[in-house]
Amino acid sequence: MRETIIETPVTYYTPDELSAADRELVGRAVEATRNAYAPYSHFHVGAAIRLEGGEIVSGANQENAAFPSGTCAERTACYYAHAAHPDKRFEAIAIAARDADGNLTRTVTAPCGACRQALLEYETLAGRPVKVLLVADGEIALLPSVKSLLPLAFTEF
Ligand code: THU
Repeated sequence: MRETIIETPVTYYTPDELSAADRELVGRAVEATRNAYAPYSHFHVGAAIRLEGGEIVSGANQENAAFPSGTCAERTACYYAHAAHPDKRFEAIAIAARDADGNLTRTVTAPCGACRQALLEYETLAGRPVKVLLVADGEIALLPSVKSLLPLAFTEF
């Protein structure tokens, strides 16, 4: 018998405790929530990815009447980022959401399982950890990598 314990470090910051670059990334994720198309869930999610060199690319959830055809903010952002900038590696991603009343969520919004798997592939391509910033109203949770959000991931690629 053998046991291992998987730990995920999560550090919580107020916005002013973040570096200027991370604060900007968080701001872009919050801004991107405005571009959500969410007439069914009324849950507006924004994701912003910082690429090597500092450029930020963002995305928002896009829903569809044929529900499974919709896409989360994180996958909108990462597929767009790599489609537009195939040579640039990801450095960090921030994710924010607003509820049906337009308020930033009081607790952090973490990516769904499918988005974790999609993001992990770009972290693997980057060859180094992609920082994850999960935004709540007044607080940001920082995780050191996508892998830390998806332990025991499928990585046979
Ligand atoms: N959604 C995201 O965009 N990202 C997440 O991390 C979780 C969920 C979207 C999918 C759907 O449009 C809405 O939020 C409600 O689930």
